[in-house]
Amino acid sequence: MNTIFGNWKMNHSLNEIQSFFSEIGQQLHSTKTKFGIAPQSIHIPILLKYKEQIPNLLIGAQNCHFEESGAFTGEVSPKNLKDLGVDFCLVGHSERREYFKEDHELLNKKVRALLKNEMTVVFCFGETLEQREAGNTATIVLEQLNRGLVDIPLKPEQIILAYEPVWAIGTGQTATPEQAQEVHALIRGWLSEKTNCANDFTILYGGSVKPNNIKDLVENKDINGGLVGGASLKASDFIALCTGAEN
Ligand code: PGA
Repeated sequence: MNTIFGNWKMNHSLNEIQSFFSEIGQQLHSTKTKFGIAPQSIHIPILLKYKEQIPNLLIGAQNCHFEESGAFTGEVSPKNLKDLGVDFCLVGHSERREYFKEDHELLNKKVRALLKNEMTVVFCFGETLEQREAGNTATIVLEQLNRGLVDIPLKPEQIILAYEPVWAIGTGQTATPEQAQEVHALIRGWLSEKTNCANDFTILYGGSVKPNNIKDLVENKDINGGLVGGASLKASDFIALCTGAEN
């Protein structure tokens, strides 16, 4: 089963959320795609209410702190996310790495905190355009995996990997299915060095995924769905993405 996770980033007002779900209605009830949405933290309780309407909707957080409580003004506790009923949390998104200077060590602590609190981690990574053009994609991706996930027990139901080339995020310039598959095969290979169940892991592609390219992406054997920013904000696109990812 393929997966579509929407990353709403810092978007959508209460009114827009309401319109989104009234347009979705019952249309995702029979989709064969696993799907979820990560809204801004303040909107998580609101999205959780929509589980009554859409029982198969998974709810994610976009970020959390690595400590469970304490004097960390403005931060969000992984323990309290679990308490609310959050299913998954993004870690290592390129915007966090770039704008908030999150490094490998910090990301590793966040992964540990989330696993301790029994949430699924969606671990994001990917190269910049400069790194790709210098021929360093594989080195960068493997470094992000090796350092961010150092000493983490890798279990397919706990860790989802999301390859998101930075040059493709929000630019409208998607990696071609061939470019994405090439890196996904590298990631699958890395998983098979670390585990004996590499094929059970979900590896998502992210970066300008749209209803018109999702099908070609998931046709590749190592691409198990998408982590979607812009196109996940519109209900009709979100439905089309879930339908397009069915296999
Ligand atoms: P995008 O964002 O789909 O708007 O390119 C993807 C992401 O940042 O996860």
